[in-house]
Amino acid sequence: MNYIKVKGTYDVLPDDVNNWVALENYVRNLFNTYNYKEIRTPIMEYSNVIHRDNELSDMVTKETYNFKDKSNRDLTLRPEGTAGVIRSFVENKLYTTPGATKLFYLGPNFRYERPQKGRFRQFMQFGCEVLGSNEASIDAEVIELAYETIFKLGLKQVSVKLNSLGDDQSKQNYRQALIDFLTPMKDKLSNDSQTRLLNNPLRILDSKDKNDIDLTKDAPLPLDYLNETSKKHFDDVIELLNIMEIPYEIDKKLVRGLDYYTHTVFEIHATTEGFGAQNALGGGGRYQNLVKELGGPDLPGIGYAFGMERLLSALKQEGIQLPNHNKLDVYFVTFDDKTRKQAIRLQRQLRTHNISSDIDHLNRGFKPQLKEAINYGAAYIVIIGDEELKMQTVQLKNTVTEHQQVVAFDALVETLKELLS
Ligand code: HAM
Repeated sequence: MNYIKVKGTYDVLPDDVNNWVALENYVRNLFNTYNYKEIRTPIMEYSNVIHRDNELSDMVTKETYNFKDKSNRDLTLRPEGTAGVIRSFVENKLYTTPGATKLFYLGPNFRYERPQKGRFRQFMQFGCEVLGSNEASIDAEVIELAYETIFKLGLKQVSVKLNSLGDDQSKQNYRQALIDFLTPMKDKLSNDSQTRLLNNPLRILDSKDKNDIDLTKDAPLPLDYLNETSKKHFDDVIELLNIMEIPYEIDKKLVRGLDYYTHTVFEIHATTEGFGAQNALGGGGRYQNLVKELGGPDLPGIGYAFGMERLLSALKQEGIQLPNHNKLDVYFVTFDDKTRKQAIRLQRQLRTHNISSDIDHLNRGFKPQLKEAINYGAAYIVIIGDEELKMQTVQLKNTVTEHQQVVAFDALVETLKELLS
């Protein structure tokens, strides 16, 4: 029998965990700077939260993990964070707190997609949702925050793509115009696009099929169908982005993969050569109807999410190292049972003072212990031999400079504290 991981999932092994923790810490700090509060919602929802009448995207209709629990309830593993966050916002009446509600989240999502580079069946996202503001300034802030996320990490080879689908009326008019344009050439479209023409025509603009790309070259575009209010909203967003000097490109064909979007939509793409087809690091946009659809008041929302696997791989590709806060401070090297016992006594003191340390547990000789200290990347090695035991001292060696000094047992904690600070 074979015991293997589920297709499309991955293990984060100890050597990689630091990158994840560092990215998570970075994200939490950044959101705090912008006054967003963390929210944690379950990974499973009742299916009706995810499968809504107006959400006919492939992601929701074809790619979700659906199952029944033992009481025959329909459940779905969340394919994205937004729906669950809005469900919680409504259920917990967070809208009764004055002002716009700014939330952020971080966690796993599940989509039954064809796995490939940068595309998994369980993947991690962090993202944010702002509920209750129609102002263009919040669109601009959310895009600023998405931009800042990648900029502060040091990523350079990225581009911010921006478009607007307009309000319901504009979007509806555009949808009809696109259907009218594509229907006469329906038979020439790819099979997928033919299906989309019926339930999700905007996604045809996103088709990777060469023939579809040709056929939609002169198709009408969302920006041409914005009514006055929608146009003004988009112009205001652009003006604010210009004021903040956030670089962006208008991508007139950008429509995004979920149906709930209205007005502003945006994506952040990695432009590094060889990054692979899944180069959207993150994306988001405004949604005017979702809160109401999930039983709440008529309040607008806007947000985005980044895929953490893709961000980590973009960082790797650009050679950017995340800070490693997980270093071992000290490794004890001893010679026999007596020196080992003394080391264990000292180690106890170090640990109670939050100085990280480790010691050999395989009863190995001097050389393998030294090797282990280097493997672990210990900043200092504390050596205790017979002579040291007699003198109540240790040899304290800096593994980088190789500088070695004699320190009394009872001065070890203070000396290390000073050296490590
Ligand atoms: P999304 O574009 O579907 O938007 O996903 C956001 C990001 O999640 C993608 O840009 C990508 O980096 C990552 N991602 C998506 N699917 C996968 C996958 N199968 N494997 C690895 N990474 C993946 C949303 O999820 C919206 N909820 C964003 C949003 C928030 N819009 C408004 N508020």
